[in-house]
Formats: sequence, structure tokens, C-alpha cells
Amino acid sequence: MAYIIDGKKISSEIKEELKETVAQLKEDGVSACLAVIQVGNDPASSVYVGNKKKACAFIGIDSKSYELPEETTQEELLGLIDELNQDPAVDGILVQLPIPAHMDEKEVIHAISPAKDVDGFHPQSVGALSIGEEGFVSCTPAGIIQLLKRSNIEIEGKECVVVGRSNIVGKPMAMLLLRENGTVTICHSRTKDLREVCKRADILVAAIGKPRFFDDSYVKDGAVVIDVGIHRGEDGKLCGDVDYAKVVDKVSAITPVPGGVGPMTIAMLMNNCVEAAKRKR
Ligand code: GUN
Repeated sequence: MAYIIDGKKISSEIKEELKETVAQLKEDGVSACLAVIQVGNDPASSVYVGNKKKACAFIGIDSKSYELPEETTQEELLGLIDELNQDPAVDGILVQLPIPAHMDEKEVIHAISPAKDVDGFHPQSVGALSIGEEGFVSCTPAGIIQLLKRSNIEIEGKECVVVGRSNIVGKPMAMLLLRENGTVTICHSRTKDLREVCKRADILVAAIGKPRFFDDSYVKDGAVVIDVGIHRGEDGKLCGDVDYAKVVDKVSAITPVPGGVGPMTIAMLMNNCVEAAKRKR
């Protein structure tokens, strides 16, 4: 029987721990504050931003919300980021992506001070992760490491296969697994014989962005499968990159969709905000 890794439960535990830490910080006169910027009103982004603000309220992190109109200029957005970079009351800055097409996402990410880069997207944060220096780590892969550790799944010495090479998930995931002494392979759309490479994995991280792509033919007996995907299937139900029903009887542990990796992203964002506030102390 596969162990079902309960991301909802683990994320709740992390948020409870953070709530206690924030209460202690408050006793020492230190508050934590996250600035959340949304440009335009993409409905999915509005839901994500709403959830981030709710998590802040639960933990006791102050949140400042900036809802800017679609037609905001790049200069106006950079001006706001600069103001927030300088504001000692603000510990973390998050610009919800995607931003409108007329804006330059790269320039926006570069503009956020690495000290307040709670998303871990700034090149300095990414570079620090690569060379083992301190810095903020992208929230989804950081959350996956927590899922593994808190489920007592050992990473050291294991064959880890990451399918997907995005800057936000695949690449930082590989660096984090390497930091935990895993043996890491990164695969992508041009990988030859993807199935055979995946079948080597003790830990398979599926972040290919295709609904129910990985069936049992990609998975070794007893592997641990982490599903980063989230899609609305043709049947109207949420599903991941993994064909859960076909894989679940073959694996030793698996994350469900929903309720696996998803809830961890916000928990780790909150963790990064608390870390930013601690550094101020
Ligand atoms: N859009 C989708 N996921 C994310 C995220 O983790 N951070 C930001 N800033 N935008 C997103």
C-alpha cells in the first residue's frame, strides 16, 4: 500500500509552527510584513493572491496589498518596488506572475531586493542556492523537500529524477535534491528515452506540465512519486502530471492532486517571510 503524502496536513503543521514563531518575534518587538503586488485582474492570480493574504492573516504576518490596473507602466511598477525595497517595515515583496504582456518580467524580478525576495526568483537567490550560500529558495521545490523530510523519506544516495527544467521548479528542485546528497538527473522535452530514465528513479519529481502524462510504465516498483502538476481534466476534476490511479499501487509513496505539493507553496512563502523578518532582528 502506498503511503499518501498529505500536503494539506504538513502545510498546516508548518503554518502552526510559523504562527508560534511570529508570536515570539512579536514579544521581541519584531513584526513581519509581506507586500503583495498584483497587476491586472487575472482571476486565477486573484485567487492565489487572496490565499496568500489569508495565510499571512492566519500566521500573524502583516500584509500590504497593491492591486494595480492592467495599464500600469513598467516605470510605475519599478517605482513601487523601489519604494518597498527602501521601506524598513516591509520584509518581503511578491509580484504575482504572470504580469501583463507589455511589461518586462525579467526586469521586475531583478528589481526586487534579494533581501526581500521571498519568492526566491532573483538571480542572486538562484545563484546562492547553486553554490550553497544563504538565500531565499523558490517555494514549490522548498516545499517538496519538506514533504519528503517530514514523511521520513531519505534523499541521500537516492536516484532522483526531475522532469521539467523551469527556473521556478525544475532547476531549483534539482539543486535542492543535490544539496541533500541525492544523485540527480534533470529531464525535459528533448530527453531521449524519458521512460527509461524515469524508471531508474527512487524519487521521481513530475513537473512536465501535461495532465496524467506519467503512467505506471514510467515508474519503478517502490518509487516515491512527487506530482507538481495541477490541471483541470476533461472530466472536470483536478489532476496532476501523474496518472494517479495507474501508479498508486506500484509506488511506496505519492503526493495526491489536489492536496499534495500545492498547499506547500504558500506554507514555504510564509516561511520565507518569517525568515526575512528574523534576519531584520
Ligand atoms: N504565479 C504562479 N505561481 C507563483 C509564485 O509562486 N510566485 C509568484 N510571484 N507568482 C506566481
